[in-house]
Amino acid sequence: MPVVRLRRLRRNPQIRNLVAETRLRTEDMILPCFVIGGEGRREPILSMPGIYRLSADNLLKELGEVKALGIKAILVFGIPEKKDNAASEAYSDNGVVQKAIRRIRKEIKDIVIISDVCICSYTPHGHCGVIKKSKLYSGTRDLYIDNDKTLEILAKVAVSHAAAGVDFVAPSAMMDGQVLEIRNTLDRRGFLDVGIVAYSAKFASNFYGPFRDALNSAPQFGDRKSYQMDFRNSDEALREMKQDINEGADIVMVKPALAYLDIIYRAKEKFNIPIVAYNVSGEYSMIKKISVGNKAKEKELVFEILTSMKRAGADFIVTYFGKEVARWLR
Ligand code: PBG
Repeated sequence: MPVVRLRRLRRNPQIRNLVAETRLRTEDMILPCFVIGGEGRREPILSMPGIYRLSADNLLKELGEVKALGIKAILVFGIPEKKDNAASEAYSDNGVVQKAIRRIRKEIKDIVIISDVCICSYTPHGHCGVIKKSKLYSGTRDLYIDNDKTLEILAKVAVSHAAAGVDFVAPSAMMDGQVLEIRNTLDRRGFLDVGIVAYSAKFASNFYGPFRDALNSAPQFGDRKSYQMDFRNSDEALREMKQDINEGADIVMVKPALAYLDIIYRAKEKFNIPIVAYNVSGEYSMIKKISVGNKAKEKELVFEILTSMKRAGADFIVTYFGKEVARWLR
């Protein structure tokens, strides 16, 4: 029996490229954007080097560049002017996101706009749902988020984004029934073509820290463990995804990505629906930190990590590295 020479396929870059099973493409990248009010504003986010909060005019300029790089899709987050317990700016037609989306839609026809639908950055308490004031719960240590009251708000947010012109809304609050409620409400209001990217398997993760700085959305008390998933579970993640698919999700998400490749893999095996991985803020900042001053190393690291997400089964990736990857792929 001769030695099996697997190394033949690794002999040189041309052969390696020929046989590569997984490829990262610019079209795979969805770029998150943080919008603020006003004009001419561009605020750096200290924990996320290279990422900015932009006012709508600057975001438009940025998107010109993003499109020229070949990126086809963005995920928009808003930082409101004022927060209140009703999260009213989240669904106001004059909210920062709604105004920005109308502008983008008007000026740029061929970009896929996805909007995050949640209330954590719109409420002073920073939770993704309405806090229930219930006698039943007072005096207990359990924080109670009112699921069904939150659904009403999320549906209003989704409709306001749809009216502004998004292609997809992306509910990220992890409330039960959010996809169904949003689908039904969008349909009733005539937004039959607006799709849903469901943050289905969203874990209560320690990797969201820098994002919460960016949005100033850290919970002011308690944590998100009563609504986001426990990282010890994966069967439950599949139940979440199955449920969202049944409720009408068009695309399902696994978030974070790097520590959850097994979930991506299992989802791809089980479901035949597009799966998106969210390479979250903490994953971004971690790479930035360990590769300061060495762009070449950073590139190699980013390619290895993002490729692993695709290899696991992700069809595309939400990533703050989007622009850099697009440049590197040129
Ligand atoms: C809001 C939301 C979060 C992220 C996306 N949407 C944060 C959270 O749940 O605290 C995190 C994204 C990131 O870390 O890049 N519900």
